[in-house]
Amino acid sequence: MIQLDNISKEFTQKNHQVMALTDITLEIKANEFFGLVGVSGSGKSTLLRLVNGLEETTSGTIKINQEELTKQMTKKKRDMIQKISMVFQQFNLLQNLTVQKNVELPLKVQGKSDGKIVSDMLDFVGMTEHKHKYPSQLSGGQKQRVAIARALTTRPKILLCDEPTSALDEHNGHEVMKLLKKAQTEFGTTIVFVSHELEVIKRWCDRAAIMESGKILSIVTVNKSDHIEDTTSYVEKAVRYLS
Ligand SMILES: Nc1ncnc2c1ncn2[C@@H]1O[C@H](COP(=O)(O)OP(=O)(O)O)[C@@H](O)[C@H]1O
Ligand SMILES: [Mg+2]
Repeated sequence: MIQLDNISKEFTQKNHQVMALTDITLEIKANEFFGLVGVSGSGKSTLLRLVNGLEETTSGTIKINQEELTKQMTKKKRDMIQKISMVFQQFNLLQNLTVQKNVELPLKVQGKSDGKIVSDMLDFVGMTEHKHKYPSQLSGGQKQRVAIARALTTRPKILLCDEPTSALDEHNGHEVMKLLKKAQTEFGTTIVFVSHELEVIKRWCDRAAIMESGKILSIVTVNKSDHIEDTTSYVEKAVRYLS
């Protein structure tokens, strides 16, 4: 469903070039719960931003359902190929809108406001009783649940998740993961989930790509059963723990 071929991404920082991603080739299948794991700076967010069209590749191709995303492509054309939504570590809710209005926003932008979908989504994430509150009145876990409802109102086929649990405690993080899993099973959403937390990837992902310094070092099918003792590097630990 998502096919990346020899993707590279270079940024200019002040007066030098930074290779954020080098020669990434990766296929994510429809309805997978796919993890991207690696330490900070390894290129995870950049990869998501390329898939979402928030950044352009320096070289290589991205195909979604066999259709290549091109630089000239409009958001509308991209949406026709496949709807993609995103959730973030810092929730990115609009502070001056209520929960309900935040969830409604993507539909409003498209001129397709639909009260039933909004109330269904609030139910889906268990936030109906808080629908008239503002983000400042919510806990971190509640804010992320609202952000997930907002991301799902347009019924995306792909949900890109950039460390959505990293700002949350374990309990709230777990609640968020359960919701993402529920989206995968109930709506058939393909989940691309970025995290540096191996335990979370191990528990929830079907497969994972392990990244370091802008490269994919390994792609593993997550083995749900065994444990791992202390090993030297993060990457080695990731490969052994997840595969
Ligand atoms: N907009 C940008 N401009 C310049 N450099 C960037 C930009 N975005 C990311 N980078 C660089 O690309 C590398 C990968 O960053 P990022 O994708 O954010 O990693 P991660 O999400 O794994 O922490 C880092 O070296 C970062 O400094
Ligand atoms: Mg990041």
